[in-house]
Amino acid sequence: MKPLQIRNQQLVLLDQRLLPTQVEYVTCKDWQAVAEAITDMVVRGAPAIGAAAAYGMAMAAASLKSAAPAQFAAGLAEAAAGLQAARPTAVNLAWAVERMLNVARLHQGRDVNDVAALLWQEAEQIAREDVAVNKKIGEYGAALIPAQARILTHCNAGALATVGYGTALGVIRSAAAQGKKISVYAGETRPYLQGARLTTWEMVQEQIPVTLIADNMAGFLMQQGKVDLIIVGADRIAANGDVANKIGTYTLAVLAQAHKIPFYVAAPVSTFDLCLQDGSHIPIEERSDRELTHFAGTRIAPEGIQCYNPAFDVTPAALITAIITERGIIEQPTETAVAAVVGE
Ligand code: MRU
Repeated sequence: MKPLQIRNQQLVLLDQRLLPTQVEYVTCKDWQAVAEAITDMVVRGAPAIGAAAAYGMAMAAASLKSAAPAQFAAGLAEAAAGLQAARPTAVNLAWAVERMLNVARLHQGRDVNDVAALLWQEAEQIAREDVAVNKKIGEYGAALIPAQARILTHCNAGALATVGYGTALGVIRSAAAQGKKISVYAGETRPYLQGARLTTWEMVQEQIPVTLIADNMAGFLMQQGKVDLIIVGADRIAANGDVANKIGTYTLAVLAQAHKIPFYVAAPVSTFDLCLQDGSHIPIEERSDRELTHFAGTRIAPEGIQCYNPAFDVTPAALITAIITERGIIEQPTETAVAAVVGE
């Protein structure tokens, strides 16, 4: 279940738009194709788009090997801007591109061939680290999961949303691997259905019992006492612990508070944006009306209406029981608690 692979120095992406009914791959031959694949959601999930963008930068550098140093720098800057603009909310994208640019800056003045090789290594390092980081998040997070737990998750924060293993689903994987009796409720995650299509698919492959629910059923489930805890991923976390994640996350956090159910967020340090004081500054992507007016290619809403389709929402830190990172757990996140774990 690898969302991204390298073959002949080209990025091969598992086409997540088609899962679970078709398993097909899209090969990206240059950074422009990588940017397009991110915008079109061939690859999605904050850490996965970060790693894909890092390879996009490495591919841009490889194509500029015979360029003069100034041209090389200009070409990389162009790729960086194009990749960063591919999607606005997940900060992992900008983080990965910036990390690649830093390597180029650090080795400025060296033979461009050498710099291109170093950039390729850096992209590989970002990809490798992501899996290791997720396993660490899994380890920390599993300690929070009781011996028997019915866990509600939203969207897909699994292997498909990362380079491997996953964040929220990584915690679930780790807890299951420790022998805990886990069952998962996957919210379908309208309108793009990452929960119905991707999270359920991952859980089936892991043989972890999974029950699909429509998003609007979550409150009733909690009222019936069927949910022991909620765990989700994140796209960007502000300095005060406010979390941007897939639209519908905030609703679940409010419901969790009303029902006194723990609400956990699992995310790597690369998802924190300490430059933003709070979540109100996080840019929220708005997607096409078609995701609401059509279902599986068929129009389901009348012509002549208006649609509003924000892809993410912001959950205030006060509603979050803990944020699980690879450096440890931030309990009852506040600016001080975040800085203690994530600050430089
Ligand atoms: O629009 P998507 O599918 O890219 O949104 C993904 C999410 O919101 C995930 O929960 C988040 O990126 C964390 S993935 C480990």
